[in-house]
Amino acid sequence: MPLIQKILDKVSFKHAYYNFKASQPTEHLMHSLDHEELGKLLKYKDDTGHPQYKKYFNAQYWLRQNVRRALLLKLNKSRPLSVLDIGSGFGYFPYVAKFYGHDVIGIDLPGDILFNKTSEFLNIDRRDYTIEPMTPMPSYDKKFDFVTSFQVCFNGHIENELWQIKEWDFFLSDLFQNHMKEKGRVYLEMNWSPTIQGWLPQDVAQLFKDKYKAKFDGPARVMLFAPVTAQSEIGV
Ligand SMILES: C[S@@+](CC[C@H](N)C(=O)[O-])C[C@H]1O[C@@H](n2cnc3c(N)ncnc32)[C@H](O)[C@@H]1O
Repeated sequence: MPLIQKILDKVSFKHAYYNFKASQPTEHLMHSLDHEELGKLLKYKDDTGHPQYKKYFNAQYWLRQNVRRALLLKLNKSRPLSVLDIGSGFGYFPYVAKFYGHDVIGIDLPGDILFNKTSEFLNIDRRDYTIEPMTPMPSYDKKFDFVTSFQVCFNGHIENELWQIKEWDFFLSDLFQNHMKEKGRVYLEMNWSPTIQGWLPQDVAQLFKDKYKAKFDGPARVMLFAPVTAQSEIGV
């Protein structure tokens, strides 16, 4: 069953449609890169502690994945937004979002030489920060329209204890109360968690629906909105 879920997630019609639409902008973006200079950064692949990150040097593939993400989120049709991308990694999503006119800060773990170098190469505003459970995020001196996180890892999906309702509610409350504009949104693309053989614990998914008006796109992707407070409910 989990395997079928994973395959269905990858082969949906919507996924294929946006992948097709991503083809032309990807070609455009491929020409925007100095591939020789990018290739030189490959020498840092072993300094990152994650040898599998070599895969990100397939720029064509990863640009296309990230253009697809941007098109799905309608970033190509939106007014300029201030975006915070959590776990920005190599920097492809901020790069694509900037291409569509948005102002993006990426945050990721400190000390990753490869991702520091590639973010510098892509001219990404990348800040060091480790998301920790039950810990408020520092201020970035502005409020965001959109917070994104793709292939979420900060929720301890493999190595650490998987986040439950308490951790998610703290994290989202902090985001919406302290870091987002009034109509801000949060978009998460979850990673598969072997612990639960799924993407999210069921009660966390329910919290997302009940409190954060979640709109799921399959089991792994979800858009979240500011919770309705008692004050806004009575129109004060
Ligand atoms: C699977 S990678 C995904 C990278 C990128 N978002 C993408 O989809 O290509 C997960 C990223 O999250 C970062 N990360 C992991 N734990 C984190 C934490 N606690 N706080 C911030 N970033 C974290 C990793 O360093 C890595 O860059």
